[in-house]
Amino acid sequence: MRHILKPSDLTFEEIRSILNRAAELKTRQKPADRTGLRIGGLFFNPSLRTRVSWEQAAHILGGHCQTLNASSDSWALEFDPEAVMDGNTVECIVEAAGVLGRYFHILGVRAFPGDREWQEEKEEPVLSAFTQHTGIPIVSLEGSMHHPCQSLADQLTMQEHFGNDLSGLNVTLSWAWHPNPLPMAVPNSFALQAAIAGCNLTIACPPGYELDGDLMDEISATSSARGGSVRIAHDQKEGLSNSQVVYMKSWGRKDMWQDKMAERESRKNLRHWILNDDIWSVTDNAKVMHCLPVRRNVVISSSILDSPRSIVKDEAENRLWAQAALIEFLAKQEGVL
Ligand code: CP
Repeated sequence: MRHILKPSDLTFEEIRSILNRAAELKTRQKPADRTGLRIGGLFFNPSLRTRVSWEQAAHILGGHCQTLNASSDSWALEFDPEAVMDGNTVECIVEAAGVLGRYFHILGVRAFPGDREWQEEKEEPVLSAFTQHTGIPIVSLEGSMHHPCQSLADQLTMQEHFGNDLSGLNVTLSWAWHPNPLPMAVPNSFALQAAIAGCNLTIACPPGYELDGDLMDEISATSSARGGSVRIAHDQKEGLSNSQVVYMKSWGRKDMWQDKMAERESRKNLRHWILNDDIWSVTDNAKVMHCLPVRRNVVISSSILDSPRSIVKDEAENRLWAQAALIEFLAKQEGVL
């Protein structure tokens, strides 16, 4: 049973094969004939791109996808199988997940981190419960730590612009100011995906906003094995100098995860962490990436988003093709196709 919860749940060779297939599907632009393929999407949080592209990815293959909003389309879930359920929860994960596993061949789940301590949230409690009780492959549609479908699409997008071999590409992941502390799944997965692809990765962020230590160990080990490099820059312009790709994203401090007020205080003097024409000018004519949704003139200036430097809509489109290829890969592994 293969679950795809983070970029490194796929090998380098599997990523190459899936992205080759994604490019092939993109070129053909007509549905394959996989009628009978049943895909589910369960969302504990809002989405535009992921929800639509996950459904349409199933349709590209000729299959069917059913989407559920966890908060409104089903019963309030209990995650503790030993709980005495005399409160607000109506159905236990054991039955709910087990039943969904009888209806679908593959289930995608989106579950952002909650208000637990970061050490608990990083273990992906919701996604782990589904992998434990559903009995079919689970694909993370963004969890606490990772957004593997986004990072697959990000790699496909970089390959379209720089060629299939991304080793040695100078890539900067840059923190950006935002009014709210946001989840870290996108930057975590982009950094790990870039390491798997062998890029020279710079992570530019203010002190205190470094990525998770265990993840950084995995990124460093992966990067060494793939012949890339990793460095951290606490000055944004220095971090962006000579970059060929700049990935802008805001994220919250993990040491202040439960104290949003303190986190906001910590970032109040960091509004200058933005990508505008002045800061972009130090790059090597960089392509600009962001997972979307993006706050214009807060994270990236309109002048950049409305120019050919921005490839954010390519990334969003490529969610379709990467996910279609990933669903096909998993369905073949399961013997469904
Ligand atoms: N990039 C991304 O996951 O977008 P949504 O949150 O709209 O799904």
